[in-house]
Formats: sequence, structure tokens, C-alpha cells
Amino acid sequence: MERTGTLDWNTFIPVWSRIVRRIVLGDSARNNHELTDLLARLRGRANWSLLHPTRRDLREEFLQRLRVQLHRAEPGSLAEANAKTPKNPETHPEEQVPQWLFAFDPAGMATFRALALLASHPTELAAVAAELRGRDLVTPQDLPGLRAAVLESVRLWPTTPAILRETTTTTELGGRTLQAKTLVVVLAPFFHRDDERLPYADHFTPGIWQDGTAQASGSLVPFSAGPAICAGQNLVLFLASTLLASLLERHDIRLTSEPPLYPGRRLPGTLSPFGLRFSFSPHP
Ligand code: HEM
Repeated sequence: MERTGTLDWNTFIPVWSRIVRRIVLGDSARNNHELTDLLARLRGRANWSLLHPTRRDLREEFLQRLRVQLHRAEPGSLAEANAKTPKNPETHPEEQVPQWLFAFDPAGMATFRALALLASHPTELAAVAAELRGRDLVTPQDLPGLRAAVLESVRLWPTTPAILRETTTTTELGGRTLQAKTLVVVLAPFFHRDDERLPYADHFTPGIWQDGTAQASGSLVPFSAGPAICAGQNLVLFLASTLLASLLERHDIRLTSEPPLYPGRRLPGTLSPFGLRFSFSPHP
């Protein structure tokens, strides 16, 4: 990254995608932009479901590129872990990999929104700066303050707004009796911003993830909870916090896009990452 300049989504996302390809597939995939582009095209078409003609050729091209990368099973990548996963004729571990790749998109959005929160909340930014001071830049580390900022970003603007469950037996819920096989939708934004229960509902409050308040609430589930909790949670939080650390420890970063975010003022219900813009300069 240049020492002074502007950071927006269009400059952030190619870098983020390169990091993601290195983590999932290994260093040799770092410049395989075509793979990411193909997946984006397939997802764009899939959003239209049956209204869009199926493009089997695109799918095959994507899978072929993916197989080449997976076959390398580069040491340290998720592809290596994938290659070591036991298979039988009915399991296809490689078919999990497109989900890993696209699940990193919301992680990039959450990271970018966390940067917007930190850049506009001086007290929380100072706490993070203290955490980073004197940090060894080489050894990977747990960064609780930055992890909490990312969790707050996903609490305030959940990237998986609906969590689905089906009751397996007659269940009492909210004073009602539900029969077995009833579909239950947990609408995360409602619980995460419930201002009748949570004094911090609409405010950036990373401390709740560090002092146990969020966990004790029983209703904050940015990565879901229980046996089906997001399998990528710790990897996402580690990557996002490490990336934010390397941006913040060298630069002063200011949010320059609209709407401005103010400490003490209610945060907006939605925040598009695509419109976020920052100016940055080296620390004085
Ligand atoms: C900001 C980023 C992400 C968020 C907020 C997120 C959140 C979630 C949520 C809410 C679920 C649903 C769990 C349920 O049904 O209760 C889920 C499932 C899952 N996530 Fe993530 N996820 C993210 C990124 C990732 C990444 C990058 C990976 C892989 C590298 C990943 C792997 C998975 C897997 C494998 C499941 C299915 C778990 C299962 O059904 O057992 N996620 N995630």
C-alpha cells in the first residue's frame, strides 16, 4: 500500500481476494483473478435461480481451474487440509471449496466496515492502538481488541441476517408450542439491535465482546451458535484483525465518505461497504 492516498472498495477488494486465494489455495493462486471472476459470474447468474439459463460451460471452466489448484495441495493452505480429508465415493470435499471462497466476501465487507467504525471512533481506535504498540510484526498473534471490532461490525450489520432451524421435536418457544418439523427463522438484525434490551444496541461497543456481556446476552450471534456455528469464524477473525492491524499500525486513517459515523450517535441500519472511502497518511 502507498504511504498516502485514498482507500475505497475498488482498491481494497482485489487485495483482499488475493489474500483469500493464498489462504484457501496457496501462493500459486495469488494472481488467479480469473478464478474469482468466474465464481462471481456464476453467483450473479445463480441469484436469478430458474429465471436465468444454466451456464454449464462456465461452471466446468471454474471447477477445472479449481481442481488444478486443489491438486497442488500447497502446504499451509486450506487446499492442503482438504486433500488430507478422508473421502469415499459419496463425499466430495472439493465441492466445499467454492463456499469457502465466496464466504470470504462477507468477511471482506465486515473488515471494511470495522475499519470505518474504528476510523470514526477515536476512543476505541486509541484502545486498539495501545494493543498494537510494540507488536512483533512477524509472529501471528491474537488481537482481542481488533477481533472485537470485527465482531461489532458483524453484529451491527450482519452479513447472514437469517439463521434457519427446524424443530426436531415438539418445542416451547416464546410461550407457544411448535410441532416437530416447524421452520424457525432467527432474524439476527432484530436481536442484535434490540434497543429495548441492549443499551448499546445502535452503538459501536467492542468492549461487550471482551468482558463477556455479548456472550451473556444469549441473543448476539454474528457467526451463529451451537453445533452449526460458522466453521470459518476463527479464521475470519484472525485474518480480519491481522489485516486491520497492519493498516492501522502504520497509518492515520480517516473516513471521508457519506454518511459520516459519529460516536454517541445512532449508527445507521445499513452501511454499504461499496461506498466507503478513507484517506490515509503515515503516522506523524
Ligand atoms: C464475515 C464472514 C462470515 C460470517 C458472518 C459467517 C457466518 C455464518 C453463519 C451465520 C452460518 C450459519 C450457521 C447456522 O446455520 O447456524 C455460517 C455457516 C458456515 N460458515 Fe460461515 N461466515 C463467514 C465466513 C465464512 C468463511 C470465510 C468460511 C470458510 C472458510 C465459512 C465457513 C462456514 C461453513 C463451512 C458453514 C456451515 C456450517 C455447518 O452448517 O455446519 N464461513 N457462517
